[in-house]
Amino acid sequence: MFKLGIITISDKASQGKRPDKSGPLIKESFAGKDCKVIKYEVIPDEKDVIAQKLAQWADAGTMDIILTTGGTGLAPRDVTPEATLSVVDKEVPGLAEMMRTKSFAITPNAMLSRAVAGMRKECLIVNLPGSPKAVAECLEVIMPVLSHAVDVIKGRVGEHTIPIKGEG
Ligand code: MTE
Repeated sequence: MFKLGIITISDKASQGKRPDKSGPLIKESFAGKDCKVIKYEVIPDEKDVIAQKLAQWADAGTMDIILTTGGTGLAPRDVTPEATLSVVDKEVPGLAEMMRTKSFAITPNAMLSRAVAGMRKECLIVNLPGSPKAVAECLEVIMPVLSHAVDVIKGRVGEHTIPIKGEG
């Protein structure tokens, strides 16, 4: 079981100028899975606000994973990756690399997401792009490894749980 925080990063949604569809979609995607959504918030595309929120949630120790949606692109106000990188202790590049790689098979626009992933203390932070379509496609890519990632971060899995060929 892991505990999840969801942050939608969007100026318009945070001002109530458009409904947030991506945050609720993330929530729905985890329904029926061994996961509990602890917090969900919509905040503007402000680097300091994003960084502060991520650090506050991760440091509280109440959630294992924070998923953000939005602000990963090339628009002048897109700063989610910079905010994320400013608070993580370690990057986990494979998650973002594979989201881009798999998504590229669906749309070349996948190359335009600058999403990053990393760990702050025992919390895994992953950026997802903003559109509901992109969220669904990217979640499909990372979903299978999230539970194992949390187990490893929490030290619940030894280094060699999967036997290495030739070692006995
Ligand atoms: N990834 C997937 N899987 N599917 C998509 O439709 N859209 C792209 C990209 N990643 C897309 C995707 C587009 S159009 C953009 S501009 C970037 O994500 C950044 O999106 P964001 O600024 O909303 O975070």
